[in-house]
Order: sequence, then C-alpha cells, then structure tokens
Amino acid sequence: MSVRRLADEAVQPASFAFSKENADWALATINKYPKGREQSAVIPLLMRAQEQDGWVTKAAIEKVAEMLGMAYIRVLEVATFYTQFQLKPVGTRAHVQVCGTTPCMLRGAEDLIKVCKSKINAEPFELNADGTLSWEEVECQGACVNAPMVMIFKDSFEDLTPAQLEEIIDRFEAGEGASVKPGPQVDRIYSAPIGGLTSLTDPDPAPAKPAAKRSEKAAEAAVSTPPSNAGRAKTAAEETNPALKTPATAKAEAAANAKVKGDTRAEGGKPSLEDKNRPAGIERPAAPDDLKLISGVGPKIEGTLHELGIFTYAQVAAWKKAEREWVDGYLNFKGRIERDDWVKQAKALAKGGEAEYIRVFGKKPR
Ligand code: FES
Repeated sequence: MSVRRLADEAVQPASFAFSKENADWALATINKYPKGREQSAVIPLLMRAQEQDGWVTKAAIEKVAEMLGMAYIRVLEVATFYTQFQLKPVGTRAHVQVCGTTPCMLRGAEDLIKVCKSKINAEPFELNADGTLSWEEVECQGACVNAPMVMIFKDSFEDLTPAQLEEIIDRFEAGEGASVKPGPQVDRIYSAPIGGLTSLTDPDPAPAKPAAKRSEKAAEAAVSTPPSNAGRAKTAAEETNPALKTPATAKAEAAANAKVKGDTRAEGGKPSLEDKNRPAGIERPAAPDDLKLISGVGPKIEGTLHELGIFTYAQVAAWKKAEREWVDGYLNFKGRIERDDWVKQAKALAKGGEAEYIRVFGKKPR
C-alpha cells in the first residue's frame, strides 16, 4: 500500500466552499449528532467534499475542520487513513481500486493490476491520456469471499477475471458506468455459494430426535387420518400445552391441516406447479426485462423465474400476496420477497427503469 500524502501544492486550489445544496446537507448532517459530538460528521462531510470536487483537497480538509471545530491534524488523519478518500485528482469516469490483500492476491489480483497497467497507466494514481481513468492498489475491501475484486467509487465488482475487468473499464470510459451491474460477476447471490446453496437447504430444519420413534408413528397416523382422529391421538397434555409437541408431531399436524385446506404443496414443502396461486406465466418476449436489477435476483433465480414464465417487471409488480408467497416458497426464500419488497422494486423499474428506481430508492438497482 502506498504512503498517503496530500497532493502537491501546485495542484491544490486556494480555497474550498460547499455548494449551497451541499452546505445545507452538511448542516443537517452535523445536527444529527448531540452537542459536543459534531466531529462524528467528519467522514460524511469529507465524502461530500470529494463528491463535489472529485477529490479531497487541502482546503476542503481545512474547511471541514473549521465547520466541526476540530484541529486540522485530526481531519487530516482521517482523510489520509481511509483509502476511499482521494488525495489528488483521479479519473473523472473511474478510479479503479484493486484489492491486493492476500485472498484477492491468491485469486488473481495481480492479473487485475496488469489490466489496469495496460489499459490505464503503468503507474498507480496516474491518469490515462484523456484524464478519465486512474487506478491504485488498496487493502482488503471486505469482500474476500468473492475475491478478486475492485472498487470503483462506491461500488464493488467481484469474482472478476481479467477479461471482465477490461470490459468494465471500457464501459466506464465510454460513460456507461452507471449501467454496469455491481457485485459478483458470476452466478451467485451476494456471497452465497456459486451454483446455489450447499447447506441450510432443508425447508424444515427442525432436528429429528432419536427418541421420537413413537412420535413419528403418531405423526404417520395423523397424516393418514382426518384431523378429528389426529386430535384423538394427542395426549391431554399436548392438547393443553402445544410446547410439549415433538417436532414430528407438529409437522404431521401441519401436513394434515394443509391437506384439509387443499394446500397442494409437493413433498419437501415446495409449492406445486399446479397450485392455483402460481403466478400466470407468459411466452418469452423478444426483449425480456433484466430481472437481475431486482435486489435478490441473480442469474440463477432469473433462470428459474423464466422457467415459470416470468419475464417482465410488470408481471412481478402485479403479484398478489398469495402469488408472492407461492414464488417465495418455490424459491425457498423464507420471506425474502417481502423483505426485499420485490413488488415495489418491480413497480419502479416498470415505470421508469433505473432512473425511477434511483428516484424511489435513492440508489442504483442491485
Ligand atoms: S482480500 Fe480482497 S476483499 Fe478482502
């Protein structure tokens, strides 16, 4: 890692001032903290200064120190410690921060650095010919499980090959950076295993107790007999205290009750494809929507949705509660569709694409 110092005086502007909008924002941010603790706003204010000017100037550091009543050296310490603060001008379209710590190094970071050297500049922190790109090597960015990775401004791009990084750099240079999907560049959701889950795959993880032989027999009886008979099989204590039921008994009762309610769940708790709550599918359109823009949908889930005939944001936006529950169960998502609010995301994307999504959620999709 390089020594982090302020840029030469020659490139330092004489003064710094927040724009009116940023000054109002800075004031509101400072006011979030209790009196006497205003210095807690030092990182947000430095970041805002960087977003305004493209890098953190000496004058900006002095201004932030003045606004927060801090000694200049204290703000300088923060600015020079964290690598998210750029201390000299960087590429206007992308500053590529390549993680060079052990996991990323073992997984190919050196090849990513070679790409940066050949496509941007042989030296870190030096601009390319057009002044649009620069790069540096940084320490662990906390995405080791998806190594190797790079950060570009606030987004990380993970599980990278040199060819993928070349393409990402080309797209940023072409001004298309906002449309590059951040996160893993392979078939995985966040840090989940590549190719799908390898553990915690049982939809009903209640442990089977070795001494439950008799209870399992009772459970079988409960499944194969109407609920009224199953009720008779319960002990009086179980009847009055549900906590005394064994997992097997509770499971059997749930299965029996589900039968009565007409639940068409297949073996293993996965809803049946014939279930009336399965959302209606459509023929694959010529240009399906990119469902991966919905948080929680990766390439694999998108493939499953396509198999179900789900290709557009409008389809997802129109799902009723029962349909959402069906899809959630089918994907074994344990309520994630509600937690991630797929419907709200899909409505925004259907209405105005990424721009509307950013307006609604204040961030880029995925
Ligand atoms: S080692 Fe690269 S992200 Fe942690």
